[in-house]
Amino acid sequence: MGQPIRTFVGRGNTAQIRLRYVFLVAIVFGGSFLFIFINNGIDILFLNNDINSVWKTHRYEVVSPDDTFTIKTTGCTIPGLNPFSDDIKKFIDRPKNIKPCHQSNISLLDNNETHIWIIKENLQHYYVPHNSNISCCYQSFYRPLAIADISSMDVDDRVKYEACIEFSNSIEVMNEFVKVSCIYKEEILYEQFFLFTPKKPFLSFKEDFLEIPQNQTGYNVIIVGIDAISRLNFYRTMPKTLSYLKKKGAIEFYGYNKVGDNTFPNLTPILLGMKDTDLKKTCWPNMRATFDNCPFIWDSFKDVGYYTALGEDTATLGTFNFEKFGFSRTPTDYYLHTFMHEAERYTGNNRDFNSYICMGNKYFYKVLLDYIGNLAMSLKTSKLFGFFWEVTMSHDYLNYPMAMDNNYELLLRKLDYTRYLEDTILIILSDHGIRWGEIRFTKQGRLEERLPLMHILLPDSFRKDFSFAYENMKLNSHRLTTPFDVYATLVDLINVEKIKNENIKARSASSYAFDRSISLFLPIPSNRTCKTADIDDHWCTCHKGQKIAIDSAEAYEAAASLMENLNTLIHGHPQCSRLTLLELIEVTEMLAGTPYESEIGWREFLVVVRTAPGNGVFEATLRHDARDWSLAGSISRLNMYGNQGHCIHHYQLKLYCYCQNE
Ligand SMILES: *[C@@H]1O[C@H](CO)[C@@H](O)[C@H](O)[C@H]1NC(C)=O
Ligand SMILES: *[C@@H]1O[C@H](CO)[C@@H](O)[C@H](O)[C@H]1NC(C)=O
Ligand SMILES: *[C@@H]1O[C@H](CO)[C@@H](O)[C@H](O)[C@H]1NC(C)=O
Ligand SMILES: *[C@@H]1O[C@H](CO)[C@@H](O)[C@H](O)[C@H]1NC(C)=O
Ligand SMILES: *[C@@H]1O[C@H](CO)[C@@H](O)[C@H](O)[C@H]1NC(C)=O
Repeated sequence: MGQPIRTFVGRGNTAQIRLRYVFLVAIVFGGSFLFIFINNGIDILFLNNDINSVWKTHRYEVVSPDDTFTIKTTGCTIPGLNPFSDDIKKFIDRPKNIKPCHQSNISLLDNNETHIWIIKENLQHYYVPHNSNISCCYQSFYRPLAIADISSMDVDDRVKYEACIEFSNSIEVMNEFVKVSCIYKEEILYEQFFLFTPKKPFLSFKEDFLEIPQNQTGYNVIIVGIDAISRLNFYRTMPKTLSYLKKKGAIEFYGYNKVGDNTFPNLTPILLGMKDTDLKKTCWPNMRATFDNCPFIWDSFKDVGYYTALGEDTATLGTFNFEKFGFSRTPTDYYLHTFMHEAERYTGNNRDFNSYICMGNKYFYKVLLDYIGNLAMSLKTSKLFGFFWEVTMSHDYLNYPMAMDNNYELLLRKLDYTRYLEDTILIILSDHGIRWGEIRFTKQGRLEERLPLMHILLPDSFRKDFSFAYENMKLNSHRLTTPFDVYATLVDLINVEKIKNENIKARSASSYAFDRSISLFLPIPSNRTCKTADIDDHWCTCHKGQKIAIDSAEAYEAAASLMENLNTLIHGHPQCSRLTLLELIEVTEMLAGTPYESEIGWREFLVVVRTAPGNGVFEATLRHDARDWSLAGSISRLNMYGNQGHCIHHYQLKLYCYCQNE
């Protein structure tokens, strides 16, 4: 059994307070794995066996090592959240109900990038005599240019199938979207859809426009969206993908706060820089309108010579199609809706709550991941802006993303070893955390829902050539950020001239502190609040103070806990007097948003006390959970200490020590 490691910051150094939660070692222990955290003492989580073989080999620090707040800035403090806290760990479990796809182990067809063929050995599973002659029909289909009825509600679903090409062994593929039906004795035995990524001619509405010259600077921009995963649920459910990102040096955004309830209002800020409610006035007058007139960011990339792609792993739940009318024009060079709509209709199976999670024998999310990888390879010598969004597996269940972890990691590896990442800005993000289920009755569940995951991976050349932009982005990792900022960031990537060091320097000096969209390549002001970032109070996760009566039981207990923490700090320094409470000056409950009634979770209080001897005034945040009081962050001294601490030579302890012989 492994030895738990305790990380202590040298005694003279912090001596205190800073609770470091370090995710340590998962240890095989009586058939279970243990998770051990250091948190003043040792907290041991027993988790269900089978989840953990992955966590065992993929270690990472759970909470940013240096504080007990998620972020702490002048304008916004988001309370610290531990992904495996007591309130949460009971919801974590390997999902056992995900059913395999229909016929997944007896597929009758297989393919590679150029061919589709019949797997004859599997014929027996279809009650077809061995050596029978079966015939399969290869039908390509596409989205026709001509629109019969522009006001039809299924204008985005239009499709045209080509004639059947029959084959009885294998066939060479020449199309983007293909449906294959295998027939025996006039009955359909098996049907499957296939998706390919041929390089298309570069088309533009502007006549004289050319594809981006290869030698021009400019990075591929690939956005890989995973629906409904909080920053911390990504830690819990996709540790392999996470540690790969960390290993490659991706920047994680701790203070990434959502701005609307579900997918749509969190994606219009990213793709259009607008609130969903702004669209009415600009480009989407009513619910029956299509989105053709909206100035999507991909149009700007197209204008400078990028190929563009929009792909989701669902048609019915698509961002622009769920109870909406989608597009009548084709929005991007590569547009998956046409394919997904047909695939869902003919081979969608394994419906689980809201989604068909399978396309024939293959998970829909996997279809999307393969597509991203293949498209990147097909367009390796061009530039690509791609927006991809997974829904089917992660949308409804907290733990289902565990099933995808391997394949997301594999996609990253593929993009890495093919050196695609060397020219690519990769953004992995979500729209919000899970919005329902038992976890939502906890305070942490409520906050996590408002804090989706976002990681941005920048290539090495970018970090070198755009070092100011890169440094700013690292800084912003611990600032309050929103989907609107992602939009401004993408705008900066259309023409990288704008983020050269001298330009970043000039722009940093300009006034943008009150802008709603601030590029993540510029320093986000530390004093940014939910209000200046245009995050509605309802979604805001920053602390908001509410004074409570100083003669209440909580106020008294919080102050007592603060005194205990103060005395613990100077314990072991006999030259410092033990401090007692002289006056309880003020207690403020620090609310993060509005708690629900009977919400399960901790409460935090900002406490200000005056102590004796020495009249020191101290302020600290104390957290009260089901079991205990604990200190969040460090204790500040609000008045001068003059010469009181002359007998101790540590800059922090000087704040707390009142020398005995004073
Ligand atoms: C395929 O999987 C199903 C269900 O998982 C199982 O019942 C069946 O025996 C398997 N068939 C083969 C040929 O492995
Ligand atoms: C794809 O499969 C076909 C037929 O099996 C084969 O001839 C071809 O070499 C394969 N191509 C690749 C890229 O693997
Ligand atoms: C299958 O087709 C081949 C060639 O078309 C023919 O020679 C053979 O007899 C057929 N077999 C059966 C079982 O019909
Ligand atoms: C880019 O390529 C074009 C054509 O190949 C060439 O004329 C131009 O000088 C190149 N520009 C740079 C910056 O290398
Ligand atoms: C935040 O700081 C900026 C300067 O960095 C200043 O212009 C702005 O007024 C401040 N905002 C608030 C809300 O104090």
